[in-house]
Amino acid sequence: MSAKKVSTPKSADDQKKDAALEALKLVTPGMTLGLGTGSTANHFIRALGAKVKEGLEVRGVPTSRATADLAKELGIPLTTLNDHPYLDMCVDGADEFDDKLRLIKGGGGALLIEKIVATSAKQVVIITDESKRVKTLGKFPLPVEVVNMGIKATAWKLERTFRMLGMSPKMTLRMKDGQPFRTDLGNSIIDAACEEIKEPERLEFVLNNIPGVVNNGLFIGIASRVIMATAKGTEDISGT
Ligand code: 5RP
Repeated sequence: MSAKKVSTPKSADDQKKDAALEALKLVTPGMTLGLGTGSTANHFIRALGAKVKEGLEVRGVPTSRATADLAKELGIPLTTLNDHPYLDMCVDGADEFDDKLRLIKGGGGALLIEKIVATSAKQVVIITDESKRVKTLGKFPLPVEVVNMGIKATAWKLERTFRMLGMSPKMTLRMKDGQPFRTDLGNSIIDAACEEIKEPERLEFVLNNIPGVVNNGLFIGIASRVIMATAKGTEDISGT
């Protein structure tokens, strides 16, 4: 009797780790790296930390307090954008991406710092599992970071802007432990469940033009490549 080999499908978390390890291969000594936020970015940071322990010399600019804490714990030297305004590479996760490498980010609430850091890097490598690839952006609610002052007025202006573009998303003030969630910069987040974003470029631009909106989770023209792990292997995707 011959035993049948049963291969267990890779979990999303295993895939995240595979993508992170693939991105690690792009790191060379001396690089200054943007360090993303979230569970996928954490896999990368842990793997990078292990390399640093073996003697790899790099430094990182964290995109959140959580990332800074993890990197410090692992002994990764940290710096700031003020000391190093030009980064060699930024490695981060995403909530969604499409074939044009347009992203939705901010599920972890770090969108603003993530955007500042990513746009300071020569190369932006997005690492994901296969569930993050979509035909049309918008299933994942779009995070919009807003200042707390006048938030109700900002909310109706947001609604009006979405309507102008033919969308009427359900908008929810993000909460944490029964309190409005605060970003590391002290702002609030309104999540807009659009279902389908028809004109992401236009939407990103007009949302950022509303007084009270600090930025939104659409990352357009920022990712250089997406390393997406699947159950079968890793794909390195450069936009169409
Ligand atoms: C945080 C982000 C994350 O990159 C995004 O939410 C993906 O998270 P995860 O890697 O945990 O799936 O944008 O603001």
